[in-house]
Amino acid sequence: MATQTQHLARAKKICIVGASGKLGRYMVQHALDRGYEVVGVCREQSVGKLDAFKDRITIIPGATDNREVIKRAVAGCDAVLVVLVPLGVHGYSAGTAQAVLDYAEPGARLIFSCGWHITRDGQDVYSWRLKAIVAIFGPIARLVRFGDIDDQVEACRRVFASNTRWTIVRGSDLEEGESQGLPVWSRHVGDPILQSNRTRRVDFALFMVAAIADDTLIHEAPAIVGCQTPSAIRHAASDKRAATA
Ligand SMILES: NC(=O)c1ccc[n+]([C@@H]2O[C@H](COP(=O)([O-])OP(=O)(O)OC[C@H]3O[C@@H](n4cnc5c(N)ncnc54)[C@H](OP(=O)(O)O)[C@@H]3O)[C@@H](O)[C@H]2O)c1
Repeated sequence: MATQTQHLARAKKICIVGASGKLGRYMVQHALDRGYEVVGVCREQSVGKLDAFKDRITIIPGATDNREVIKRAVAGCDAVLVVLVPLGVHGYSAGTAQAVLDYAEPGARLIFSCGWHITRDGQDVYSWRLKAIVAIFGPIARLVRFGDIDDQVEACRRVFASNTRWTIVRGSDLEEGESQGLPVWSRHVGDPILQSNRTRRVDFALFMVAAIADDTLIHEAPAIVGCQTPSAIRHAASDKRAATA
């Protein structure tokens, strides 16, 4: 386990790919709060969902796997935050990730969102519930052409294999609510600190934005959990006991 180290923000201009979704809009707000100049990419039909920010950010409408859209959006950006969603059955996630990997500025910080089901090294230990969700709902989603979990897996495989300055943030189950603060994280699902499997979406977004300025997260795939959840609190208490023993 590690808590995220906060550094002074260095990046100035950032791009948020998938800015109009729930996670995306929280990220836009956190980014503006930190003084970043924000470029947001979202599907044409979703531009209105960014009305609250329209005077403060640049919006580039278009499919997030459209290479020309991404090329234009990430130009000159110090960091790119990407909401990876396995929606549809035409490789939307992998196409989005590939465009970002290909066109982001050399040395830019690239931060991608996904769920706990993504594994980097195969050392994650999954609950029967998560295994069942992936095993049952994965094929059904593909069958009805709603989504394809393997698409997100492929997107992350490409990111892991790239020589960019990437972080893949793996979200637990999410809930709405006021911020509780920066989530804590672990390298492997199954570690006791993550047991509560709950993070506020606003704090998932906070972790994504804070990662821009946290170089300790480069080439990590942190699995996150809310810092006020019982498992996180238990872990903090046991750390404290160990430190005073
Ligand atoms: N939901 C969870 O419980 C959960 C748990 C763990 C991790 N995560 C991760 O968190 C991230 C955000 O997920 P979220 O569930 O919270 O949803 P979200 O933030 O609302 O994001 C959904 C995204 O999907 C886009 N989208 C919707 N329909 C689409 C379509 N037909 N084709 C292409 N894009 C489409 C949305 O764009 P528009 O605004 O244009 O519709 C939006 O950018 C994802 O990376 C997900 O893997 C989610």
